[in-house]
Amino acid sequence: MTIAALSVHTGGDETPKKYGTTDPQLQAWVDEVARLTQPSDIVWCDGSMQEADLLTKQLVTEGKLIRLNPEWRPNSFLARTSPSDVARVEDRTFICSVNEEDAGPTNNWADPVAMRSELDGVFAGSMRGRTMYVVPFSMGPLGGPISQLGVEITDSPYVVVNMGIMTRMGAAVQQLIEDGASWVRTVHSVGYPLIDAAGLRRDDVEWPCSDTKYIVQYPETREVWSFGSGYGGNALLSKKTFALRIASVMARDEGWLAEHMLLIKVTSPEGAVSHLAAAFPSACGKTNLSMLRPTIPGWTVETIGDDIAWLRQGDDGRLWAINPEAGFFGVAPGTGELTNPTAVQTLWGNTIFTNVALRDDGDVWWEGLTETAPDHLIDWQGNDWTPDSGRPAAHPNSRFTVAAAQCPSIADDWEDAGGVPIDAILFGGRRATNVPLVAEARSWKHGVFMGATISSEKTAAAEGTVGELRRDPFAMLPFCGYNMADYWSHWLAVGKELGQKAPAIFQVNWFRKGDDGSFLWPGFGENSRVIEWIVRRVQGDADAVTTPIGLLPAEGALNLDGLDLTPEATAALFEIDPQSWLAECDLTEEYFGLFGDKVSPALQAELASLRYQLKQ
Ligand code: PEP
Ligand code: NA
Ligand code: MN
Repeated sequence: MTIAALSVHTGGDETPKKYGTTDPQLQAWVDEVARLTQPSDIVWCDGSMQEADLLTKQLVTEGKLIRLNPEWRPNSFLARTSPSDVARVEDRTFICSVNEEDAGPTNNWADPVAMRSELDGVFAGSMRGRTMYVVPFSMGPLGGPISQLGVEITDSPYVVVNMGIMTRMGAAVQQLIEDGASWVRTVHSVGYPLIDAAGLRRDDVEWPCSDTKYIVQYPETREVWSFGSGYGGNALLSKKTFALRIASVMARDEGWLAEHMLLIKVTSPEGAVSHLAAAFPSACGKTNLSMLRPTIPGWTVETIGDDIAWLRQGDDGRLWAINPEAGFFGVAPGTGELTNPTAVQTLWGNTIFTNVALRDDGDVWWEGLTETAPDHLIDWQGNDWTPDSGRPAAHPNSRFTVAAAQCPSIADDWEDAGGVPIDAILFGGRRATNVPLVAEARSWKHGVFMGATISSEKTAAAEGTVGELRRDPFAMLPFCGYNMADYWSHWLAVGKELGQKAPAIFQVNWFRKGDDGSFLWPGFGENSRVIEWIVRRVQGDADAVTTPIGLLPAEGALNLDGLDLTPEATAALFEIDPQSWLAECDLTEEYFGLFGDKVSPALQAELASLRYQLKQ
């Protein structure tokens, strides 16, 4: 089929719509992808409300979205994916740098030349019988100094409506491209053509996808090619593939940082404002912390971002950060009135739910939303469900997509184009042992060591040992677009530039357990006590004691007023057992060994210094 034969749909509204672009490079790229994938139509998305309405109506008509009861959940929808397409596929994610060493030992590498020819075959005709959407999007406020533009080509209208929530999307972005701004190319196909090579048509299915999946990043040419999945981080290419994997490489080359971090604004009882960035692995409560409701009087926490931060040195020499996204793609299970009431309120309407359960009254439900489950539901796979079904009603990785602007705790400065100045950076994992509730790094280098050694524990450990550690340095293991050891060196270089103006770095751990296996710290809103100490430290108003692993709150410096915590539990939260820490140092040495001689001598020196101090 030739391009000239393609018809073009309007967004269904009266306003003039662009069919194509005056930007020759964008037009040539769209033509090239269309020649390869052979869609029936091409739609240039303008990001209007009418366009989103048209697409959701179409998806409802096709049985691919369920409109929720508007009485409970206006303008909201439920999507059910194929059971084989419910999460990111890390084993099918490839970093195709020219040199294998640049991908590093923690990424799947594939030769870019070989991958391109493999993908040419995979994408050939993959959009036959479908509409191809051209989705221009901005990461960060339009035209902002930290922002970047991208274009996603996709054959999934579900992706288009999600991108409309997760990014600033549409005509205004296309205009910036036509005015000469640079942009990143991303291509996505669900890999389920409706017409085969012989011209035979087949029916569409509720959730088209393919058993063959590829999530491919070409770091040098800043490109993403995603095939076979319609789900979340695999398909919303603004998010993990661009804003983390590709952007981390751009950041390395240009002297900034693209991080898997939430951003919050904290106001003290005296009205002093601080901004914090925090990296936690997936499923450690990033979204909850970003919407934290302090239990201590006078403190306010407001939300700027819940997943990704881009940070850059400002003219004043400090580190400034934006949330490049415009929405939240949050995990639903565990989000409830007790754990995260702010998120629950955010979801009042205009929300796309994926793989949650459907109530008989046309609203949604998931494990943890309420204390008791409804008597009857339709589960995420469309089957009848009752509380004694013996299986979850919502998929454990079921999600909500909602605009950040709808969050009641959103900060007034969340869309400041220049970002917010960062006062402190937090690193956290899920550790039953060793890691105290909070520790401050002695220096930027020590903080980078803390970030490089983030890990979570699978099993409780015996005395004097540590459990099996799942390493997730900087919470970037699945998201760093280049060699992880080079990434640590880049962090060290950024710290050198920032010098005295660098933010303080802290390690936190909400998940330490006592001998009986129960959590020592209540978590959730009570984490505000740790935030208080961190902010007071930055202000120079809180005392600390020096230990081998960092600076811990001095006696009485952590606000425990009104908290039902025994002195034994408090001591256990901060206990540092030298033998157990030395055992952990051995594991860290082993882990660093994975990267050969790439690990910066500065980090090796931090490890040596830690061992030396533990032996004193
Ligand atoms: C995703 O899987 O799409 C995603 C956003 O990842 P995570 O929640 O693990 O960060
Ligand atoms: Na996931
Ligand atoms: Mn994430």
